[in-house]
Amino acid sequence: MGRILSGEEIAAQIKAELRTRVADLARKGIVPGLAIVRVGEDPSSASYVRQKERAAQGLGLLSTTTVLPTRTSEDELLAVVSSLNEDPRFHGVLVQLPLPPDLSPERVCGTVAPAKDVDCLHPENIGRLVRGDPYLLPCTPHAVQQILHRSGYPPAGKHVVIVGRSALVGRPLSILLSQKGPAGDATVTLCHSATPDLGAFTHQADILVVAVGRPRLVTADMVRAGAVVIDVGVNRVDDPTAPKGYRLVGDTEYEAVGKVAAAITPVPGGVGPVTVAMLLGNTVAACEAQAQPAR
Ligand code: GUN
Repeated sequence: MGRILSGEEIAAQIKAELRTRVADLARKGIVPGLAIVRVGEDPSSASYVRQKERAAQGLGLLSTTTVLPTRTSEDELLAVVSSLNEDPRFHGVLVQLPLPPDLSPERVCGTVAPAKDVDCLHPENIGRLVRGDPYLLPCTPHAVQQILHRSGYPPAGKHVVIVGRSALVGRPLSILLSQKGPAGDATVTLCHSATPDLGAFTHQADILVVAVGRPRLVTADMVRAGAVVIDVGVNRVDDPTAPKGYRLVGDTEYEAVGKVAAAITPVPGGVGPVTVAMLLGNTVAACEAQAQPAR
């Protein structure tokens, strides 16, 4: 088995670093605040939001979650977001995705004040990211970058193959890792559901990132010996022997891929906890930025 990259350990390091900054703010009487909005009853979303809220409170941040019913209209949701934009207690505002089908994620994410956009989903912040002048970095792509950096696998000069072109992970990650500078400088191939012969691409990867949301999509024969594999997928699969009747798996055949790879992130306990840590980091950074007098 290759090296297992523990997201829990990396998240603990990051949170330890954030504690100093939270303490500095506390000395000025400032508590960073994170407001989360969740719409509907998707059990995975409810679980992710609980994890974010618990982590925020664990770091001493102010955190509240507004839960709205599935039938909430877009105007009602936009009004909630607008009032959080105006609330000085909250430096970060996050609307958990996915939204129910009648609500436009683009319109909703575009309503979050850019200064409070800790998810980096507002067009202004996506534009800054693409231009190479980011405000905050999107949480999951930044988590992947931090896992590579902190585990001693810098992407510079490597061929990174990303499977999945979502607005939340694959596309922004391709921008982050191909940008100029030591945290980027990778050659990036972005694959997706319409890529023919996916294995021919994944097999060329020094670093393979899979973010599709399909269990066992990547099998051991698709991975080059010695590659580093980052599995972003979180899928519930039925398991009558598990206490809840299901268990969580990633997008790779973990045991078999782990034997071929130099290193792999587990699911759960890989990218997820680091994503949450990056969200806390963005909330602290947004708070520090808002605490500065406007220039
Ligand atoms: N759903 C899954 N991941 C995320 C995320 O990083 N941010 C938001 N807002 N929703 C998500």
